[in-house]
Amino acid sequence: MRITCQATSIPADRVPDMGKRQLMNLLLLGAISLPSGFMLVPYAAFFVPSGGRGTGGGTVAKDAIGNDVIAEEWLKTHGPGDRTLTQGLKGDPTYLVVEKDRTLATYGINAVCTHLGCVVPWNQAENKFICPCHGSQYNDQGRVVRGPAPLR
Ligand code: FES
Repeated sequence: MRITCQATSIPADRVPDMGKRQLMNLLLLGAISLPSGFMLVPYAAFFVPSGGRGTGGGTVAKDAIGNDVIAEEWLKTHGPGDRTLTQGLKGDPTYLVVEKDRTLATYGINAVCTHLGCVVPWNQAENKFICPCHGSQYNDQGRVVRGPAPLR
């Protein structure tokens, strides 16, 4: 016995209710793509880095009166070893450090004591940050060297 199958193609204009089918397909496509688009745009935007000032996307420090700190101008008035308070991330008091080779350090030192939150002044004579509240001491890079510091 031999079975044969013949594929038949029916022209679109001869399919019953083809216009309704196409309309339903368009409605279905619209119903799916519109909400999907609204969800995909924020999702895709999450992966795009936010633009911003500077090349590294970092935060620009501000001086005591709120002006942006410009490295070249800052280095004209601040010498090697200088640690001056500025406004850093979220406006926190942050020390800008001038290195021995007269360049700005690539980091800032948050001046808020980790113990209970006092602002810690730089003590040039002892080459340390010494907290006036409970005596925590930090080295010239902001690491705890003495006192009741931890918490935070
Ligand atoms: Fe600085 Fe307590 S707040 S030592």
